[in-house]
Amino acid sequence: MSVRAGAAVGLRCVACGRLTPVADDLYVCPGCNANVLVEYDLDALKKSWSRESLTKSGDRTLWRYLPILPVSARLEGPPVGWTPLVAAPRLSRELGLSQPLLLKDDGRNPSASFKCRASSVALKRAQELGRTLVTGASTGNAASATAVLAAAPGIRTRIFVPKTAPRAKIAQLLTFGAEVLAVDGTYDQAFDLCLEATRRFGWYNRNTGFNPYTREGKKTVSFELCEQLDWQVPDLVVVPVGDGNILSGVWKGFVEFQRLGFIDRLPKLLAVQAEGSAAIVKAAAGDGVIRPVSGDTVADSISVSLPRDGDAAVKAIRESGGFGVTVSDTAILAAIGEVARGAGVFAEPAAAASWAGLKEAVRLGLVDPAWRIVALITGNGLKDVASAMKTAGEPRLIPPDAGVLDTLFPEG
Ligand SMILES: Cc1ncc(COP(=O)(O)O)c(C=O)c1O
Ligand SMILES: [Zn+2]
Repeated sequence: MSVRAGAAVGLRCVACGRLTPVADDLYVCPGCNANVLVEYDLDALKKSWSRESLTKSGDRTLWRYLPILPVSARLEGPPVGWTPLVAAPRLSRELGLSQPLLLKDDGRNPSASFKCRASSVALKRAQELGRTLVTGASTGNAASATAVLAAAPGIRTRIFVPKTAPRAKIAQLLTFGAEVLAVDGTYDQAFDLCLEATRRFGWYNRNTGFNPYTREGKKTVSFELCEQLDWQVPDLVVVPVGDGNILSGVWKGFVEFQRLGFIDRLPKLLAVQAEGSAAIVKAAAGDGVIRPVSGDTVADSISVSLPRDGDAAVKAIRESGGFGVTVSDTAILAAIGEVARGAGVFAEPAAAASWAGLKEAVRLGLVDPAWRIVALITGNGLKDVASAMKTAGEPRLIPPDAGVLDTLFPEG
């Protein structure tokens, strides 16, 4: 007997469309090995769940969406989700937009990144399966979110990260008790190693774009946006993209709320990738087929050569009527300071790419200035201060001597 996955009724293949019943160790389509989407009986759910019941919920975490999550209870531990929407009127004016740009600051999650959403749902699924050891490979944030959130429920974690992951992310992993395997290679190699370990040892695997339950956590950001905007769907949602799992999750969230009748339209999605790591944007603009790239960018979180949720991501861009843009590392680094000074939000490079990408889309004439736009800020800048310092520069060094003050500030 398989353990039920909350209200899920099956897993639908992204490629061949086959619906497979939920099973304990089933991650991908048994027919063609492609990724699967968790499916719910939305017609049945419609009868018991409404906008009104949701609005009355006092739960200010992603667990307010439990009726449409693949688990039967919340994960014990620090609150995840319900992150603030920060208005950025100065940034809007800079782009000539008529409505304030809104930044969804997911750096406020317990591990300081969006990935808490995914890890909390995947960890709860592992717990409901009776698993006590969870493994994952990550550019850094998915892993640190897993380690942070596994602490309270007492789940062991065994994590593969490229040894080049920013120190703050590795510090989080070690401090929160993960067993860390720093791979002398790329994220893609760490990913493959972790998959092999799962095949050999049967550890529960939380990998992005492999475990279908991560997307379920990620979709909650769209639910929050609908509620926080009083059910007014944004015209454009800007998403920084690596494996494409956030993007496919964001899309799934809006589509499910539309099918439930909670919203009456869908946004366009703007996928932003770094120039050196743009497999999804290239595929979306071309024949739709994902081909590996070098995966080379300063934005470590979106440095991916073979995106693991590429097909679903390309589909999401196309179905939304949206588009992709690429941005240079120089533009990404500059964007860190621009978002900080322009809106009071500290973003790590991948998250700052949202703003850099929106600017690029405006420059290319892809954005209607009247649109209501939300940009996802997916990770906090303190995650990678070395990158911030590349653009911020060094402070002025002065002697500890009061006399220097008059020299420095002759006019006060
Ligand atoms: C801060 C941040 N932004 C964006 C992404 C991209 O998400 P995905 O790999 O699902 O496309 C990640 C993934 O690690 C991330 O950590
Ligand atoms: Zn299939």
